[in-house]
Amino acid sequence: MSEVAERWGSRRAFIMAMTGAAVGLGNIWRFPYMTGENGGSAFLMLYVIFVLLLGLPVMMAEILVGRAGRRTPMQALSHLALENGHSRHWRLIGLMGAATVFFILSFYSVVSGWSFEYMFDALGGNFTGMSPAEIGGSFNTFLADPFKVIFNHTLFMLLTMSVVAAGIGSGLEKLNNLLMPLLYLLLFVLVGYGATTSGFTTALSWLFTPNPAAIDITVVLNAMGHAFFTLAIGACALMAYGAYMPDRQSLPTAVIAVACLDILVALLSGIAIFSIVFSQGMDPASGPGLMFVTLPIALADLPGGNIWLGGFFLLLAMATWTSSINLAEPMVAMLQSAGLKRGVAALLIGVGVWLMGLPSALSFSSLADWTPLEGKTFFDLVTSIPTDIFLPLGGVLIAIFATWIMDRQRAFDALGASTTLCRGWLWVTRWISIPLVIIVLISSLWHQG
Ligand code: PHE
Ligand code: NA
Repeated sequence: MSEVAERWGSRRAFIMAMTGAAVGLGNIWRFPYMTGENGGSAFLMLYVIFVLLLGLPVMMAEILVGRAGRRTPMQALSHLALENGHSRHWRLIGLMGAATVFFILSFYSVVSGWSFEYMFDALGGNFTGMSPAEIGGSFNTFLADPFKVIFNHTLFMLLTMSVVAAGIGSGLEKLNNLLMPLLYLLLFVLVGYGATTSGFTTALSWLFTPNPAAIDITVVLNAMGHAFFTLAIGACALMAYGAYMPDRQSLPTAVIAVACLDILVALLSGIAIFSIVFSQGMDPASGPGLMFVTLPIALADLPGGNIWLGGFFLLLAMATWTSSINLAEPMVAMLQSAGLKRGVAALLIGVGVWLMGLPSALSFSSLADWTPLEGKTFFDLVTSIPTDIFLPLGGVLIAIFATWIMDRQRAFDALGASTTLCRGWLWVTRWISIPLVIIVLISSLWHQG
């Protein structure tokens, strides 16, 4: 259980690694459809509030534990707990995190596979001359084909696990740092396209005009879960990366930069998608297919449409690739500390997650009628419960650990900020973030039962 010696090459490299984990399907795919299903501006407002009040403090808590421990999440948790006279059972937070990301990665891979399919289709010219209605229809036809869906899911898992097996510091990060600015640029182009459509002003007012009447406990729970999901926190995934954080770097500065970028990407994607939704007279609440039926309509309309579309899905695949590598990290770290070699750990996890992904892949075909709970398909459940319940639960435990269990000076040192900032973080985490998560989780359980 000794400390790791490796560090990310530079402060910038660490910020890039965090950004790679944070920016992904959460921003471009999940944020728009969740906003659409949860009353537009009401969801957006709550999501931003949760990112500020919970996301930033908990993200700092999570990374500082990894940084202070300089070990895999479970080892860091038990080391820091023992050191301060507490039980080593606190490491079970790491176990819960590994279980949570197991389920999240299973559907993440399936949905990333959808964008592979779109990339291949676009580059093959399949969207040429299709009407918006045909584009919408082709999505459902694709989802109903178990062979294609599983093929892409398999491909995605292979790509992810081969990088995971190689360990951090592979060439992928460098490639990604080079390509992500292009994705952001393309999102600006899409917003620009959106601005030329008739739905643009409706989209803006639907997203930004406050609508507190649309808020209920479900919207609150969904927005809270999404804040954790999009920032990649609550499952010890960023904690694992924190172990390699350079020695001299301010954690608050890095975290604020990543969160701002994460919100920006979500907003761009939301504005682009809802402009198309409203100009095409579509339903904002049409669910997980929203991005797949709107963005091709816009991009296929530009000159050289297939290239734009293929490029977009390629960049999206890159973004989801780096997120899924981070998703796998808590599991790999856990198996590694149990004595397995990295490659073997990656293989086991890859096979397990692939199998777990199958019911999600089939939720739109052979398992479409299988609704284990409250009329929801397996896909509906696996995309909501781990994110909305288990990420916040893990996050609140990590926050409790960082502010009540581990040594205070250790925590402040790992934050790497001024004493005032450290005290501010401690106060907000203890008295705002932790109670807020607990209140939301309990009220929604109350509401269910
Ligand atoms: N933050 C990623 C996204 O927005 C998803 C993720 C969740 C990654 C949890 C790691 C851990 O797509
Ligand atoms: Na995100």
